[in-house]
Amino acid sequence: MIHQPVLLKESVDFLTTKIDGIYFDGTAGFGGHSTEILKKISSKGRLIATDKDQSAFENCKRLFSGDARYSIFNTSFTNIDTISKIEFIENFDGIFADLGVSSFQLDNIEAGFTFREDTSLDLRMNKQDGISASEFLNSADQDKIAKVLFEYGEEKNSRNIARKIVEARKNEKFESTFQLRKIIEDLTPQRFVTKSLSRVFQALRILVNNELDELRLFIDKSVNLLGVGGRIAFITFHSLEDRIVKEKFKYESLSCICPPGTPVCICGKKQTLKLVTHKPVIPTDNEINNNKRSRSAKLRVAEKV
Ligand SMILES: C[S@@+](CC[C@H](N)C(=O)[O-])C[C@H]1O[C@@H](n2cnc3c(N)ncnc32)[C@H](O)[C@@H]1O
Repeated sequence: MIHQPVLLKESVDFLTTKIDGIYFDGTAGFGGHSTEILKKISSKGRLIATDKDQSAFENCKRLFSGDARYSIFNTSFTNIDTISKIEFIENFDGIFADLGVSSFQLDNIEAGFTFREDTSLDLRMNKQDGISASEFLNSADQDKIAKVLFEYGEEKNSRNIARKIVEARKNEKFESTFQLRKIIEDLTPQRFVTKSLSRVFQALRILVNNELDELRLFIDKSVNLLGVGGRIAFITFHSLEDRIVKEKFKYESLSCICPPGTPVCICGKKQTLKLVTHKPVIPTDNEINNNKRSRSAKLRVAEKV
């Protein structure tokens, strides 16, 4: 299987509350969740999807080509507002995202996400967007590189790694994954190398894809575009993403943000969501045994009020 969907039944059961509803899958990937959503809705229902990645887009377009209920766009999920206008949709009944990258992207050498193969150090989901990871490492100053590795990868050795990167690029510009891998291997005790590589590659991937800002924007736009009773369900894979989803859902579920002790409410805040899952739903031991990549997944769901 190209990509094994994570928390499939749990997420789609929470999301699809209306059989004739209109749904949005922001991260189509290889169509695992979309297939399940389409099974749950009637011939009057619709599913609109996006994926930034060209291969994922083409795969889903082919996979669902015979289904008139389905449309897909090769763009960021942050364009949900423009897409809803193109599709004459006022409100969605459910908005879904399964964040990060697919197993296909991680395993495919040409996609350039793996540190296990010597390939171009790019890490962009859409190769036309912004700058590649190598362009960033070749141009950013040492402090900025260290900050990115620390903030987006929680890499404790970020300062030393950044110093070595800046030293190394004086002799040879960064182009390949193995140039970066060698620096981390030279600086890290053998038993921590894989973890450190994962953190550094995660940090660069988050940066070049602008993942955290896009997530914030997508949640804000989704809250506006959900109809009353519509649900938002997001699966995250690391603490930075999960914190954003958790805090945004919590903020939207508050009806007052006045300081404690304020005699009457003066903030004007309106509640827009209510939490459906108070704690994140996580995969069962069985799912983790069958699919190691599911182990860090967390599903959070909220409903528009
Ligand atoms: C974990 S995979 C989704 C897998 C999918 N749920 C399935 O079952 O096949 C994440 C997908 O989201 C896409 N993606 C990540 N960020 C995106 C964004 N901001 N806009 C659109 N697609 C995005 C990636 O290219 C990748 O294909």
